[in-house]
Amino acid sequence: MKHDVKNLKLAPEGKRRIEWADADMPVLKLIKERFEKEKPLDGIRLSACLHVTAETANLARTLKAGGAKVVLCASNPLSTQDDVAASLVKDFGIPVFAICGEDNKTYYKHLEATLDHKPNVTIDDGADLVSTIHSSHPTLAKDVIGSMEETTTGLVRLRAMERDGVLKFPVIAVNDAATKYLFDNRYGTGQSTLDGVIRATNMLLAGKTVVIAGYGWCGRGVAMRARGMGAKVVVTEINPIRALEATMDGYWVMPMDEAAKVGTLFCTLTGDIHVIRKEHFKLMKDGAVVCNSGHFNVEIDINGLNELTVEKRPGVRKFVDGFVMKDGRTIYLLGEGRLINLASAEGHPACVMDMSFSVQALATEHIRENHDTLENRVYDVPHEIDEWIATLKLKSMGISIDSLTKEQKKYLTSWETGT
Ligand code: ADE
Repeated sequence: MKHDVKNLKLAPEGKRRIEWADADMPVLKLIKERFEKEKPLDGIRLSACLHVTAETANLARTLKAGGAKVVLCASNPLSTQDDVAASLVKDFGIPVFAICGEDNKTYYKHLEATLDHKPNVTIDDGADLVSTIHSSHPTLAKDVIGSMEETTTGLVRLRAMERDGVLKFPVIAVNDAATKYLFDNRYGTGQSTLDGVIRATNMLLAGKTVVIAGYGWCGRGVAMRARGMGAKVVVTEINPIRALEATMDGYWVMPMDEAAKVGTLFCTLTGDIHVIRKEHFKLMKDGAVVCNSGHFNVEIDINGLNELTVEKRPGVRKFVDGFVMKDGRTIYLLGEGRLINLASAEGHPACVMDMSFSVQALATEHIRENHDTLENRVYDVPHEIDEWIATLKLKSMGISIDSLTKEQKKYLTSWETGT
């Protein structure tokens, strides 16, 4: 079996971590048990480009249990858990091409290795497989019956392809399922981003001014958790509705050129390019810490930061680089501007990935069953999948809820009853 991982000797530690995560992924486990019996993905060649974590390992095991031939590469050069990658190869017979810290050339070589599998289904976190198929291997597209996308940023790229009429197979917008974004993007990113910042810096958040760029579901999560830890939270936005919402949620809202002067910690979660740039670095206080928790490492203008720098102090701590400015101020960049929650921490906890990856598994089954009727468009996840996952997640948490009485059902479907 071809693979490229750091060291297969790391497998025992990886296996323990995969099993630890598995214990907190009860919904995915139910799907795996059913897949084992029914084999709904029998014979499907599936290439996945995801963060190679213990949680992803459990998705890969589930897809394999369903009969898919799964191959995995990383969706970010810094997020691979090498022990997990080793265990997937050694203990679970799943080919993995991913090494933490790989350079860009190796990253793309690994992506190509995953496409050598000639997939029928792809799963992306950031649309790299789909865009590589379209740009470099268009002949592979004829075998692809559909693709799943895990993240907001990936969907932006895919919807642009749909709009331009170039998309060659259907895509399911897993990110946009309610059981995904309301929990993974908000509570997952909220907790794991601060986890990453704290592991990298050991900084106390109480009393600090934390600037959150972007008030989407991820930004909301980080703002909420930072406030919960005693930080004064500033939000920057370009969208007036979101800015208004952040204001009424009780945060200060201001443009980045004002926020730059007051912040101690800056975190970008916008999905856009150069949200923090030269003009902002010039205004920041000595010791300001800057990080990104958006998908790509484009949100912070690192070239601009380098241009202002007279002395670089790499590795002042693991995942922390210092940039000394002409006037003596030092600005610290975390995790090379890559997703801080996966660079210096372990990504979202298994409890929340349970839902995201249950959506992935069921969306894969949905594509298998329905690809004949799907067009080359970006589709929402069917509502029944969302409801089923929410119901089982609640059950796994020991929470029961009310159901409508006959009278209530009738009331909700009639129009006669008024004041
Ligand atoms: N994205 C964010 N957290 C993750 C995790 N734990 N595993 C895979 N992808 C993730």
